[in-house]
Amino acid sequence: MPNSSAEIFIDSWRVYEKVVAHNYMYHDEFHTKVKIYLEKKFGTSPINILDLGCGDASGINSITENITLNSYRGYDLSGTALEYARAKFKDAEYSCILVQKDIREAVKEAGEKYEVVYSSYALHHLSDEEKQKAFTAIYSTLVPGGVFIYIDIFRPQLESREEYLQGYITWIYSEWHSLKDAEKALISNHVLENDYPASEDWMKKAALNTGFYIFNSPVNFHKHQLWLLEKE
Ligand SMILES: C[S@@+](CC[C@H](N)C(=O)[O-])C[C@H]1O[C@@H](n2cnc3c(N)ncnc32)[C@H](O)[C@@H]1O
Repeated sequence: MPNSSAEIFIDSWRVYEKVVAHNYMYHDEFHTKVKIYLEKKFGTSPINILDLGCGDASGINSITENITLNSYRGYDLSGTALEYARAKFKDAEYSCILVQKDIREAVKEAGEKYEVVYSSYALHHLSDEEKQKAFTAIYSTLVPGGVFIYIDIFRPQLESREEYLQGYITWIYSEWHSLKDAEKALISNHVLENDYPASEDWMKKAALNTGFYIFNSPVNFHKHQLWLLEKE
């Protein structure tokens, strides 16, 4: 896939911020679930987090509010988003590294040391073949007992990519009321050119083939899902 997947996040980060602020992609619901899961799983043991396609790292502070971080490493192609992320971490008391790099390269250099690999709405920019490679690399970077927390868009098995994306765009135009038409058009073009959502069936098979234990059925919020994939 071309690197144009990050263009909108370089030039128009403020539009995406608006989408998140209005919770159109259910970040709030997913963050609440992830926060509870992390607190139950790790308690106060210090953990290391790798965030792939971190953007401005907007969710990290809330999901880690009651757990102890030893380190956080985020990768993203957008320098603009990383600048916002840097500001968020300026008072962090743990090691925090932000790197401008393609996810496909980032996963190769991570090393086996993370309790948590987190990726939210970024891997759908890769083809299924590239996603599978990323999952394999993610599995290797996790310590035993670690978890891959994966939030993304997924299409039903019987829907083609084109059908799914058209449905998504129709939904943007009818429900994302706080965006101007030009903003909706910008996002719709980005979606059509750069989004390759996996099917739910493909995702389940890929997770199992990689060796993950699927902690629970994926949590669904209208076209968006959270997967909790554990390395035993
Ligand atoms: C929809 S935003 C998600 C940001 C954040 N993780 C969230 O959940 O709000 C997608 C992010 O992935 C980044 N991105 C897209 N393709 C990428 C790639 N191949 N490598 C690294 N980052 C990429 C974009 O720059 C953008 O910040």
